[in-house]
Amino acid sequence: MRLAMIGLGRMGGNMSERLMKGGHQVVVYDRSADAIAHYVSLGATAANGPGEITAKLQAPRVVWIMVPAGKPVDDTIASLLPGLSKGDVIIDGGNSNFHDSMRRAAELQSKGINFVDSGTSGGIWGLENGYCLMIGASPEAFKLCEPIFKTLAPPDGYAHMGPPGSGHYVKMIHNGIEYGALQAYAEGYEILHASKEFKLDLHKIAAVWNHGSVVRSWLNELAELAFEKDADLADLRGYVEDSGEGRWTVQEAIDLNVPAPVITLSLLARLRSRQPDSFSAKVIAALRNEFGGHAVKKS
Ligand SMILES: NC(=O)c1ccc[n+]([C@@H]2O[C@H](COP(=O)([O-])OP(=O)(O)OC[C@H]3O[C@@H](n4cnc5c(N)ncnc54)[C@H](OP(=O)(O)O)[C@@H]3O)[C@@H](O)[C@H]2O)c1
Repeated sequence: MRLAMIGLGRMGGNMSERLMKGGHQVVVYDRSADAIAHYVSLGATAANGPGEITAKLQAPRVVWIMVPAGKPVDDTIASLLPGLSKGDVIIDGGNSNFHDSMRRAAELQSKGINFVDSGTSGGIWGLENGYCLMIGASPEAFKLCEPIFKTLAPPDGYAHMGPPGSGHYVKMIHNGIEYGALQAYAEGYEILHASKEFKLDLHKIAAVWNHGSVVRSWLNELAELAFEKDADLADLRGYVEDSGEGRWTVQEAIDLNVPAPVITLSLLARLRSRQPDSFSAKVIAALRNEFGGHAVKKS
């Protein structure tokens, strides 16, 4: 089918390519003219602004947005509205907060436009392996867009979660789980790396764990790749960003009175990773020195 893709970054670009390989016609738009030109060279149709995007589609129009969560999504939707009509569909495939998605769905519904939230997982490997899609939509909008989901996902890799907002809700928890899983692998490999008893080969360990072990996983396959390049990760700083979903998962757990210590601590470990030093650790060192005369290290 014919659809538009807005945002040709790491995700939207590869997704456009996979859609075209699957026989869809994709109208592409990005702030970068170079990005548009690249996907036009692969067979896409260029749009040079929001007005052109909607003009190059036929009703019911389907527009997939793949830009950072928050204001960029609201701004993009606002820019599309003048060219949309009743029955058209906007799909947000980024990592938006589900509260925002529910609000957007209600605002668009009042104009007769369908909003679909597609929690999208698969990263830069999705081009080749397909993307797991967790979709929030009305049954009608889901059915209309299903050929797109089928092409983007691997076999059995997409599902209708419920009404708008539910796709991003499920993706939020998916990413919360990812935080905890990453933290557990990270701690295990750090202990192995620190071992004084044995000089262990992390690449060999990751590789063997990927064959039949209980902790084999795609994340551990990526660990095998990373340790193959450099088992000491010497070029990297231990600085870890987050794009919101872990915070939202922890907030949701608190709102629901669900104890989620592993996900919560893995979020806090990321915050700690960004501090060159820890003021709280300094306070503890100072107080231990005050009450017990314990030694401190000077900065
Ligand atoms: N990377 C992943 O593994 C992954 C996985 C699942 C979901 N996601 C989600 O998918 C979305 C896109 O991620 P990505 O990794 O593709 O990011 P990306 O590589 O940074 O690409 C983002 C795209 O959005 C454009 N953009 C940024 N700000 C914009 C604005 N204010 N208005 C219009 N366009 C804007 C960027 O254009 P410029 O180049 O001009 O800035 C770029 O084309 C995010 O919500 C992200 O959280 C990412």
